[in-house]
Amino acid sequence: MRKKIVAGNWKMNKTFSEADDLIFKISELINENYPMDVMVVVCPPFPYLELATDLTQDNDISIGAQNVSNHDSGAYTGEVAAAMLKSIDVEYCIIGHSERRKYFNESSKLLAEKVNILLKNDIIPIFCCGELLPEREANNHFNIVEKQITDALWHLDSEQFKKIVLAYEPVWAIGTGVNATPEQAQEMHAFIRGIISTKYGTEVAENTTILYGGSCNSKNAKELFANPDVDGGLIGGASLKAEEFVKIIESF
Ligand code: 13P
Repeated sequence: MRKKIVAGNWKMNKTFSEADDLIFKISELINENYPMDVMVVVCPPFPYLELATDLTQDNDISIGAQNVSNHDSGAYTGEVAAAMLKSIDVEYCIIGHSERRKYFNESSKLLAEKVNILLKNDIIPIFCCGELLPEREANNHFNIVEKQITDALWHLDSEQFKKIVLAYEPVWAIGTGVNATPEQAQEMHAFIRGIISTKYGTEVAENTTILYGGSCNSKNAKELFANPDVDGGLIGGASLKAEEFVKIIESF
């Protein structure tokens, strides 16, 4: 079902005690003033996931991972399996982030495998897509985003696809302080919903949650989230401070 979601992607930040403190503060602030129709997801680094699921078990915050192995289990040194995430109550997992595509050469084929393994373990993939600046300047951004989505997701049947959350994150907006304008975000989100509708039908498309990510903060969240096809945000830097993150949640 289409949901409003604000998800924090902490990336590779925070020590254990800082993570403890941040989750505690977010929980405290949210409990005071929680917009009930917005789902809050916090995605800390692997070593803090169990702490995060423990600290949030009595509130409405859900916990997500930032990566998962494409293998079930076995001799894959350094990897973390979907079943392990499930066993500590992780509910979401970010997949296809541009940083993983760029620094870890993640291909659409690998992402398709990761999506499959997450769905098999009943974890919701937050699938990221988004173009580079030269691709937008060449007016190729719709093609790029369409290819990222179709290559990694179009093998799913509609029951499986209904479980996916999408995040449009233009790479030129990530960590730059230059967010997509509300018009640019709406245009791309409507395009994405359109291709989903063509493939899976209007009902599935209307029920798909599509988040915006890239320099989203408490100052621009309201106008970004006001768009009919923007269902929330995937927040990087601004999710690292409890007050700022909660202000973004309250922007709906
Ligand atoms: P920033 O909010 O820091 O631009 O990062 C966005 C992002 O990459 C979230 O996944």
